[in-house]
Amino acid sequence: MTRTLPAHDTTALDDAAGILSRGGLVAVPTETVYGLAADAMRGEAVARIYEAKGRPRFNPLIVHVDSLARAEQLIELNQTGRRLAAAFWPGPLTLVAPLRADAGVADLVTAGLETLAVRWPDSEALTGLVARLDRPLAAPSANRSGAVSPTRAAHVLESLGGRIDLILDGGPCRVGLESTIVDVTGAQPVLLRPGGVTRAALETVCGPLASASPAPDRPSAPGQLSSHYAPKAPVRLNATRHHPGEGFLAFGKPPEGVGFDVINLSERSDLAEAAERLFSALRRLDERFSAIAVAPIPDEGLGEAINDRLRRAAADRTNTR
Ligand code: TXA
Ligand code: MG
Repeated sequence: MTRTLPAHDTTALDDAAGILSRGGLVAVPTETVYGLAADAMRGEAVARIYEAKGRPRFNPLIVHVDSLARAEQLIELNQTGRRLAAAFWPGPLTLVAPLRADAGVADLVTAGLETLAVRWPDSEALTGLVARLDRPLAAPSANRSGAVSPTRAAHVLESLGGRIDLILDGGPCRVGLESTIVDVTGAQPVLLRPGGVTRAALETVCGPLASASPAPDRPSAPGQLSSHYAPKAPVRLNATRHHPGEGFLAFGKPPEGVGFDVINLSERSDLAEAAERLFSALRRLDERFSAIAVAPIPDEGLGEAINDRLRRAAADRTNTR
């Protein structure tokens, strides 16, 4: 049985810490999406994450911390890494850096890589649990593999109910998109996944970012699987017209003829509002329609991450499921 408890409640956090210290799984709200947390230092606990999500292979996971000091016990940060951490932590930024030999993180977390992805989230629930356990927590998004990421406790229950011990309910996630992942292993930082911190904001702190070379079928190279974040219904992008029977995901003014079958990501064309609504809107349209059309979204600011997720939602799924 999966229980749901309020994330802001001290006894609920104690309860969650008890489950985690026994090697169990707890879904925890963060500012980006809900994460499925386990003790990053226990291989069998981390293995349960893969099992509950039904992940086809061992993708490396992000480890969550509650301070820069705890991050630096796990990874070696160069000057660029420290600058980015100082500017954006706690927040929706994940740094990939060389794993320290004495980090103590389970091999399943890194999937055998010599680097580790670390994030200090802006989430009192998750950082509170790290502090209570005095250990870093591995946490991918709390959904079945390949499905749309959860931004509400109800999404987690729908996807993982019966497979995990506890869901902490912190309400809707403020950002609504996963963290931006930047590799700071080498001299020039590399953008591995667009997300909650925009490219422009990062570049004011660390200069120009290199882009990851596309490797759609190598999930460990976080081009990830090309089909990801996918609803069941086929998704048509850059739609300027509405076809009968389609659910329509609008941005700004919807096209002629769209009525009850539209969800507007942001009537006032605000990309932050659109990011926050994206995943729950995709879920709602997926429940009601057998096809989904999506209006064009500008590719600037948070639009880069929104379009990245939409392209994956629309990608051909034949060889990824
Ligand atoms: O906002 C987020 O980042 C959420 C919350 C829960 O923190 N987490 C999340 O985790 O999105 P997940 O597992 O869905 O995505 C982790 C990504 C994967 O694309 C993986 O390939 C990449 O991080 N990754 C992890 N470790 C890596 C490493 N050492 N090098 C390169 N990429 C890595
Ligand atoms: Mg995910």
